[in-house]
Amino acid sequence: MTPKIPEKKLGVNIDHVATVRQARRAPEPSVLEAALEAERGGADSITIHLREDRRHIQGSDLFELLRNIHVPLNLEMSVSPEILKIALKGVPEKACLVPEKRQEITTEGGLDLFNKRGRLERTVNALQKRKIEVSLFIDPDEKQVREAARLGVEAIEIHTGAYANASGKARNQELERIKRMARLGSELGLRIHAGHGLTYGNIFPLLRIPGIREFNIGHSIVSRAFFVGIAKAVAEMKKIITSGK
Ligand code: PXP
Repeated sequence: MTPKIPEKKLGVNIDHVATVRQARRAPEPSVLEAALEAERGGADSITIHLREDRRHIQGSDLFELLRNIHVPLNLEMSVSPEILKIALKGVPEKACLVPEKRQEITTEGGLDLFNKRGRLERTVNALQKRKIEVSLFIDPDEKQVREAARLGVEAIEIHTGAYANASGKARNQELERIKRMARLGSELGLRIHAGHGLTYGNIFPLLRIPGIREFNIGHSIVSRAFFVGIAKAVAEMKKIITSGK
């Protein structure tokens, strides 16, 4: 009997909903309502990034979501002690450690696991001690994948931004790199996630990589949601991810 391949999961990043709210410092649109609509559309988890500058998601969003949503919450966070303190207070099901620069528009590149190693290890250990599943957002690079395994995290999220931004031959090369690192990560016992820059158009080749178990997508889904609503936008992406079509 051939082993059953686990179903691919969709994590929906709703930071942009908070971006619109913060543009007016108004109560709407509600981040919680967006999360519940995403659940209705079939989101397997909800992702938020509590940035140090609080440009979109606020600490209060984390606690409100934790009290009210029904699927796991994935908190993207830097290794800042201030953010760690909030994470340990809220205790989301999952945390994804990402690099963070104040000036960037969005996360640029993966985390360098050889930088600030002590702080990184302390952050991973503190989260795991509270049974928070940790993933590390890294580029598809062999040294980084091996270091992630050495750190004993549950998962890596492979940064797909370079793939999304490339075209032609360069895109195929990026895809090959992702494929090789997904295989290596799986062999090392890591769960493989992927995210950044993924759209309804460019996700298909990644769906054929067997090791990738979860996709985290924000911008493309929220952009589509302006026209069809969040639940439908999520349902459309979920169908693509589960059926490959
Ligand atoms: N994964 C990580 C680690 C991210 O930082 C982001 C952006 O916040 C995403 C996935 C989602 O990227 P996008 O909004 O381009 O779909």
